[in-house]
Amino acid sequence: MKKVHKLIKIAIIAGARPNFIKIAPLIKELSKVKQFSVKLIHTGQHYDPVMSDIFFKELNIKKPAINILSGSGSHAVQTAKIMQGLEQVFIKLKPSVVIVVGDVNSTLSAAIVTSKLHIPLAHVEAGLRSGDMKMPEEVNRIVTDRLSEYLFIPSEDAYENLNNEGIERSKIFFAGNIMIDTLINNLKKIEKYKVLKKYKLTKNNYCLVTLHRPSNVDNKKMFIKISKTIRAISETVKIFFPVHPRTMINIEKFGINKILNSPDILLTKPIGYRETIALVAGSKMVITDSGGLQEESTYLRKPCLTIRPNTERPVTVTIGTNTVVGDNMKLLMNLVKDIMNNKYKAGNRPKYWDGRTSERIRKTLVKELLSKNNI
Ligand code: UD1
Repeated sequence: MKKVHKLIKIAIIAGARPNFIKIAPLIKELSKVKQFSVKLIHTGQHYDPVMSDIFFKELNIKKPAINILSGSGSHAVQTAKIMQGLEQVFIKLKPSVVIVVGDVNSTLSAAIVTSKLHIPLAHVEAGLRSGDMKMPEEVNRIVTDRLSEYLFIPSEDAYENLNNEGIERSKIFFAGNIMIDTLINNLKKIEKYKVLKKYKLTKNNYCLVTLHRPSNVDNKKMFIKISKTIRAISETVKIFFPVHPRTMINIEKFGINKILNSPDILLTKPIGYRETIALVAGSKMVITDSGGLQEESTYLRKPCLTIRPNTERPVTVTIGTNTVVGDNMKLLMNLVKDIMNNKYKAGNRPKYWDGRTSERIRKTLVKELLSKNNI
């Protein structure tokens, strides 16, 4: 007689652009385990094709089992909509464990619902802290980690952050950086990609700029100050700037088009994953406020200047190629000069940023879940 396996139902939650990059290798790896039944649930936080569908296509992610289509809204509205949708889904699906990634509002909403339904929660990219409670993601990280049963950390500094908050060491697993799994999986495909030609850029001769943090782009004074600096930098090195929808709204609202209107500044719509990675790899430097780009530039050994007062990813500064410049535009300009004169640090790769993070997560979950469920 054929042996029937008891299945462990795993629900993986994703909602926003950086989530999709993190779940791609995870779904693939967990689906290898015959005792696991893996279901992907899309919250709909990001819904435009360039913010969502393109990542599913490029990263070969299977269609979500369910999309709860939450859409945009204020923090309370968005979080509440996602919570309402997920509660219904979890009651019906009865997952044995829920996995969330990163620090977006979808992560927080899923964590709260999971916890209230007494379902064990796993958090991938746990333990990162910027220390800045005004950053919505910091609140999301703290609450999610507090509610998690399995905390997969990307770098060893997270041990101390979690320890300071009283989280037991036995719940913490040093798995490494899952974004780097995706990066490594896609590097070969990127080599064949003719993205520089498409945008008329030359290798090591342009700066990739991305900005989308509310503290930079929702604040008119700050956004104008940054834009003027970008304009000044464009006199030294060409700028390629794919614009996030939040940022585009404010470029128009604050009249920033005029400041950025230059033949040396190329503004485009948001671009996909492979184009982004190819553009980091081909660049002279990156100027950003993104968390993911701080990590990807470190792995690709490209200088990264971060326009934020802090970072929850300190290894990118202490080990990697990143410098946090805050709102100090003079420092930013000076570092651009150093980079152009090849006087900037070269950086190294942090431990376990090696493409095997999803494998380590799989092994841990197999060990933990199969024994707990008597399988
Ligand atoms: C969210 C995350 C942020 C992450 C970023 C990556 C939170 C609190 N923030 O910020 O951590 O770095 O995603 O992109 O979860 N919009 C569209 N189309 C879309 C999605 C959004 O036009 O598909 C516009 C809407 O006007 C929306 C705004 O962008 O109001 C902001 O979207 P939202 O998801 O609230 O936050 P992000 O700024 O994208």
